Amino acid sequence: MSHPMPKNALGVALIGTGFMGKCHALAWRNVAAVFGGAHPRLEVLADLTPESADAHAAQFGFARATASWQEAVSDPNVDIVSITSPNGMHRPMAEAALQAGKHVWLEKPMALTLDDADAMANMAASHPGQMTILGYNYLRNPAFQAARQMVEQGVIGVPLAFRGVYDEDYSADPNLPWSWRMTHEAGGLGALGDLGCHLVSQMIALMGPVSEIVAQTQIAVPLRPSPDGPKVVENEDSAMALIKFASGAQGSFATSRVARGRKCRLQWEVHGSEGTIVFDQENMNELWLHRAGEAGFTRHLTGPAQPDFSAFCPAPGHNFGFNEQKVIEARDLLSAIAGGPPCGPDFAQGLEIEKIIHAMAGSNGQVIRIERQESEKAA
Ligand SMILES: NC(=O)c1ccc[n+]([C@@H]2O[C@H](COP(=O)([O-])OP(=O)(O)OC[C@H]3O[C@@H](n4cnc5c(N)ncnc54)[C@H](O)[C@@H]3O)[C@@H](O)[C@H]2O)c1
Repeated sequence: MSHPMPKNALGVALIGTGFMGKCHALAWRNVAAVFGGAHPRLEVLADLTPESADAHAAQFGFARATASWQEAVSDPNVDIVSITSPNGMHRPMAEAALQAGKHVWLEKPMALTLDDADAMANMAASHPGQMTILGYNYLRNPAFQAARQMVEQGVIGVPLAFRGVYDEDYSADPNLPWSWRMTHEAGGLGALGDLGCHLVSQMIALMGPVSEIVAQTQIAVPLRPSPDGPKVVENEDSAMALIKFASGAQGSFATSRVARGRKCRLQWEVHGSEGTIVFDQENMNELWLHRAGEAGFTRHLTGPAQPDFSAFCPAPGHNFGFNEQKVIEARDLLSAIAGGPPCGPDFAQGLEIEKIIHAMAGSNGQVIRIERQESEKAA
């Protein structure tokens, strides 16, 4: 697929300087070096305090710093706003950026609630010339792109079943202090909003739209310590679901933030009528493929045969990394702005992901029908 890149430099505002703020900054600094086109202008960086904004603007190479995100999104020199703030700020920041005429690169999950995500998708639809893209970076991994291509080309025949998990253990310690992330009001969903949405993005890209879900959630640690005494955890530590796809295929799905020993176990397999593909993000440079008649599985390493790998490195097996996925995400956004293929998941496609995770959160053992899928695939 050809990806034209902008010939003129576009101005970027970055909001937030944490895990994802640095990841977006690295992507903005590297995207033209890797994929060509004009280097983006790193115009302004916004953070909570002037001190942090100043220090990170200097570290990341942004021209200006501010403690006002409103100032950053309305800056006339800015064309694109990267939003890497906590979930509760996503809607106001994204809507303000759209209203200011900017393209928006927003971290997942889209918002705290399905209503918020719906409103954001409606606003994006009313600004059709402005691109939106959500931070579903795992879709960009060349190994995932190869798996998706194998499924689309029928290498494993007709997809019959999806088995997926996304487990981490960052909340496994019961003495981990209570935080706002564990509330509906400020954090939104729990493991489903943080981890499960990534697995959904890959699942629907491989399997197509979901038609029915039945799920259960669990809060493994209902009270957590705080300086004011134990406080209630409101959102789920883990969730499990059974899924029916519009194609008739079936799926199983599980996600947890309290899975001891699991660090980034975004692991899935697709069972097809003629073969099976297996992937695990903790070994993100390989796929395992079995085809009917073979005794077992063959290991397929990422390499320069995949264009988005070769843009970084000419040698197979030399491995691709987490932050490099974000460079491809930035390329996809810039290329869409330059008239290339549409980038996604955009806000309309992101809303479909939100519908699925919110259905899982609310199912409580009842079957939920997913009524409307505006897009066949997530990206
Ligand atoms: N795509 C991924 O793989 C991935 C990974 C981790 C986190 N995330 C998402 O990224 C978002 C941020 O997560 P994180 O781990 O980087 O969090 P973080 O706590 O490390 O960083 C959040 C940043 O936002 C800043 N911030 C908070 N409120 C602000 C405001 N009003 N104005 C300006 N800046 C403000 C904070 O100062 C901090 O720099 C979350 O939505 C999370 O779900 C995505």
